[in-house]
Amino acid sequence: MARRSSSFVCQSCGAVTAKWVGRCESCGEWNSIVEEQTGGGIGGGPGRASRSKGRVVPLVGLSGDAKEAPRIQTNVAELDRVTGGGFVRGSALLVGGDPGIGKSTLLIQAAAQLAHLGHKTVYISGEEAIGQVRLRAERLGLSDAPVALAAETSVEDILATLEADTPPAMLILDSVQTLWTDQVESPPGTVTQVRASAQAMVRYAKKNGTTLVLVGHVTKDGQIAGPRVVEHMVDAVLYFEGDGAHQYRILRSVKNRFGATDEIGVFEMTGKGLVEVANPSALFLGDRTTSAPGAAVFAGLEGSRPLLIEIQALVAQSTLGTPRRAVIGWDNARLSMILAVLEARCGVRFSQHDVYLNVAGGLKINEPGADLAVAAALISSLSGLALPANCVYFGEVSLSGAIRPVAQAQSRLKEAEKLGFDQAICPEGNLKDGAGSAFKATGLAELGDFVAKLSAEASASGGT
Ligand code: TYD
Ligand code: MG
Repeated sequence: MARRSSSFVCQSCGAVTAKWVGRCESCGEWNSIVEEQTGGGIGGGPGRASRSKGRVVPLVGLSGDAKEAPRIQTNVAELDRVTGGGFVRGSALLVGGDPGIGKSTLLIQAAAQLAHLGHKTVYISGEEAIGQVRLRAERLGLSDAPVALAAETSVEDILATLEADTPPAMLILDSVQTLWTDQVESPPGTVTQVRASAQAMVRYAKKNGTTLVLVGHVTKDGQIAGPRVVEHMVDAVLYFEGDGAHQYRILRSVKNRFGATDEIGVFEMTGKGLVEVANPSALFLGDRTTSAPGAAVFAGLEGSRPLLIEIQALVAQSTLGTPRRAVIGWDNARLSMILAVLEARCGVRFSQHDVYLNVAGGLKINEPGADLAVAAALISSLSGLALPANCVYFGEVSLSGAIRPVAQAQSRLKEAEKLGFDQAICPEGNLKDGAGSAFKATGLAELGDFVAKLSAEASASGGT
């Protein structure tokens, strides 16, 4: 029997304290500290019983023969892009996301692909019964895929099953919160259990060269132990996001030891499962009404992929003492900054107006490169004049009103050209490396120049 000791673990962030406290000092969460039995066995860490004598492990050089291709590709291009060119053998991944977003659907589809390609694939469901998984596979038309399926939650049973046969190339555990090991005495779902179970499975994967995919639910209220404690154990963390109102889903890599982060893969949830979206710009631009004022197309960048996104602004006369500023899909503070720069440096006043900003399609933009597109949408809505339908905008605005260059201007311009745009307003600094041929890119150094250009165009077309 393992040595028993108890500690107090925050169920939200996994921090350990010596005594019970009402509020976690690490993450500030209230009432998240639970007493847990830790100690011996897998995942017990420093608390485990000491061994009398260590075992000699062979030390090897960096070079050596790797027998198999280090990556397994799924041939689902969007998935391979996010993993950095396929799953790395012997690596562990965490796929997080809200319940119901489509994690199980994505992974059963990937499992079926891999199995069809001849890789031994094991899918272990801890949440759904065999019948439910089969039903879904049938709906997706994947019943004939040679995926080995089990419904199990005990880590010891899973390991015993796996060790009875040759190790699989791919092992999917859906979900990590349902796993439990009898090496620790906390109830399933607690941080200690999740950590110990994940550690045991990661160890198996590394030892046997199996790619391990752990599915984790992200809950905001911290009721179930968040998979955050697993994040530092795995080699890659992918988040599957999207919202209920839209059919598309985005798989985003937030950590990847074997590839670039911030890569995204775009899928659409259909009646027949997730379908790859090869040209997401067309999706996000959707059915644009080009004649309406307040819409500007931002030529953005997600990871290595250029993406055109429509930014919509509504500037309306306010009846409130403090006008409203509401933002969906962009940073609130960033909007305030752009409004302040427009007021202070360009003399465009918003203080009597409510401002609403929306990123079309429910996408979230984190890039400062969207500043210029936001400014364009704001000015367009304020003046009531539509921007040219064939023009894209990108550029970062500094507090001084200068338009700063952004990364990868060429690929942004190329994407815009591909989608039928023929003009761009971008930072002057980005045009030094030469713009596309048929494309009319205008480089600007100051936000003030941009405002002047817009009002000149407005008066030329007979507007106000
Ligand atoms: P699921 O993969 O079970 O989500 P998670 O594992 O992240 O909790 O996805 C469930 C949702 O996906 C459910 O609301 C129905 C929808 N769905 C489709 O629209 N089409 C399909 O073909 C499938 C299998 C699911
Ligand atoms: Mg699921």
